[in-house]
Amino acid sequence: MEMVVTGQEEVKPFNVDWLKSVRGCSQLVLKPQTTAEVSQVLRYCHEKNLAVNPQGGNTGLVGGSVPVFDEIILSTALMNQIISFDKVSGILVCQAGCVLERLNEYLEEQGFIMPLDLGAKGSCHIGGNVATNAGGLRLLRYGSLRGTVLGLEVVLADGSALNCLTSLRKDNTGYDLKQLFIGSEGTLGVITAVSILCPQKPKAVNVAFLGCRSFAKVLETFTTCRAMLGEILSAYEFMDEKCMEVVERHLKLSSPVADSPFYVLIETSGSNSTHDEEKLNNFLEQAMASGLVTDGTMLWSLRERITEALTHEGYVYKYDISLPVAKLYDLVTDMRARLGHSAKNVVGYGHLGDGNLHLNVTADSYSHSLLDAIEPFVYEWTARCSGSISAEHGLGFKKKQFIQYSKPHEAVVLMQQFKAMLDPKGILNPYKTLPSAP
Ligand code: FAD
Ligand code: MLT
Ligand code: ZN
Repeated sequence: MEMVVTGQEEVKPFNVDWLKSVRGCSQLVLKPQTTAEVSQVLRYCHEKNLAVNPQGGNTGLVGGSVPVFDEIILSTALMNQIISFDKVSGILVCQAGCVLERLNEYLEEQGFIMPLDLGAKGSCHIGGNVATNAGGLRLLRYGSLRGTVLGLEVVLADGSALNCLTSLRKDNTGYDLKQLFIGSEGTLGVITAVSILCPQKPKAVNVAFLGCRSFAKVLETFTTCRAMLGEILSAYEFMDEKCMEVVERHLKLSSPVADSPFYVLIETSGSNSTHDEEKLNNFLEQAMASGLVTDGTMLWSLRERITEALTHEGYVYKYDISLPVAKLYDLVTDMRARLGHSAKNVVGYGHLGDGNLHLNVTADSYSHSLLDAIEPFVYEWTARCSGSISAEHGLGFKKKQFIQYSKPHEAVVLMQQFKAMLDPKGILNPYKTLPSAP
């Protein structure tokens, strides 16, 4: 196992992000195996004023996971050990470099699952998930990582290790420091281990896919669905017809229901399949939807692989917005009208149950004038609705300059003070998350 990677070709994949939209020119990747080794690396870099870019599975979508210049890449790829799992409490403790899907497979064998799931599960690391506070497909049911992460071990910029790796459900002794590192995108410390509360594996999982004739119908169906499915509802995702076209065109997946302007994917997770199926069928009858309840894997791939399908279109401008759910799709309609033929495609999909829209604009290749037509319009629109310009992907390199659309000046100043206190030399993931001075 190579712990030090040098050489242009070998380092190349670590320098470019998943979307292939940003590139750094680091000449060195370090892959420590233990917390002590991470400490050693950071202590040295701190002393020598060397910048460090923490990297997990490199699936981040905002340019935070790759260097801007020649920062040293600190990869958690070899920190992939499970430390403990308690079958009574459902608490898993593991190193930060464990791949999400591997953790889920391990837990499934013990009758449990991870509380989060996302399309990038085969590559992303749990440390990267925590560092971005990833949301994903199960948040509706199991909540945010801010609730399920019970403890963290973090190595600070000067190399000192902060052990807050507790496995307690309740702990009100002072400030909850781990929250500072959840969603900090590698700018405040390197997460080396995670303690996380995992739910029982549901005995029955059903997936339904419905066509809806309008966005109003998508919302109405959500209301009916919550009322009728109650505690067994575990996902409510939506996609528009443009998404379906892209998925069909590039991935050769076909729609399982009749062509519609909108589609929703509903998942239920419960403990009694007969009871759950009965509830789901009653719901479908009430919703008067032409729906299909079938093999979940096939239906999930239609939704999960939109991200991949869009990359085949050319360049993708990605926006990840939180909005009041009633206004969620207006942004897509307005953007489509604004861009006209200058965009190849303007699509909307996302975690409707969480009020999270993924607005994506595609073009054959990157164009500055198209970017100018989208930004800051998209951020101003979001701010007018008191939404968030980053619901779950973070700010990284691409969105850091727009933080003020979602946070007041005082909050940004306080964030800068925290950064200065924890990383006075600014060696940790520089040029990311916080805006650079004007
Ligand atoms: P990386 O991409 O390597 O890093 C992301 C950020 O975290 C960077 O700023 C990096 O510096 C920092 N970081 C990484 N590891 C550490 C560490 N150990 N300590 C400190 N900082 C660290 N996101 C969602 O929220 N919901 C989704 O549904 C979702 N679906 C996705 C689907 C696809 C196909 C793809 C490609 C991405 C998706 N994402 C989603 C984006 C999401 O941010 C990542 O997939 C995931 O959380 C990042 O994990 P990673 O290990 O790849 O981190
Ligand atoms: C998703 O929900 O599919 C992810 O957040 C990725 C994306 O926004 O494309
Ligand atoms: Zn998402």
